[in-house]
Amino acid sequence: MLGCTRVRFFLDSDSVACSRIGNAAWRQVLATYYDEATINHFQKYHEPARYIQISQQYSSYSKIFVAETNGFVLGFCLLGDLQNPKREGEIYQLFVDPNHRREGAGTLLYATAEQFAREKGITKLRCDSAIHPETIRFWERCGFESKGDMIRKYPDGFEAKVVYMEKQFSWTKSSS
Ligand SMILES: CC(C)(COP(=O)(O)OP(=O)(O)OC[C@H]1O[C@@H](n2cnc3c(N)ncnc32)[C@H](O)[C@@H]1OP(=O)(O)O)[C@@H](O)C(=O)NCCC(=O)NCCS
Repeated sequence: MLGCTRVRFFLDSDSVACSRIGNAAWRQVLATYYDEATINHFQKYHEPARYIQISQQYSSYSKIFVAETNGFVLGFCLLGDLQNPKREGEIYQLFVDPNHRREGAGTLLYATAEQFAREKGITKLRCDSAIHPETIRFWERCGFESKGDMIRKYPDGFEAKVVYMEKQFSWTKSSS
């Protein structure tokens, strides 16, 4: 499958697919580690309109990358905080269709996002990983280091347990 998979920037027409994949990942993969209230809370982060808003209104701060095979969206990655004065970006979301896990799409999406971040002068990426052990394994394979479990408090007051992870780059390309 990966041979004909390509990663490109998000188009508004991807919003429904991104929403479907984000919600399916919560229900089919992460539900073992998070309760119904948490899953319901995070559903609002996957509303189609939200992805369109991010790509249209916050394009200098965030980029959404989409992996597709012959027009079928396999997954997406939301990279953010690109204007951070400390040159620290964040992977806000990275989700792969549960029916296409372990085919390399996640790695391809991450590698594309990291390259983009490096070209913008970012020297460190953070992410709040789900506490799911396979997700943590994925981030470690991408070069991230776990800094431990923490309770993340979201702007609306909601709290969820995550694993805070970071990746520091060993070299810096001048920002463009
Ligand atoms: C985590 C996730 C993005 C990984 O995407 P993916 O396309 O399945 O990952 P890849 O195929 O690129 O896997 C890369 C490596 O990660 C690790 N990995 C990924 N999925 C794994 C699994 N189910 N079990 C064990 N290791 C796994 C492996 O080391 C794998 O390399 P290998 O297949 O050569 O052993 C995807 O499983 C997902 O969407 N999970 C649910 C949502 C989620 O947790 N997103 C991250 C939010 S913080």
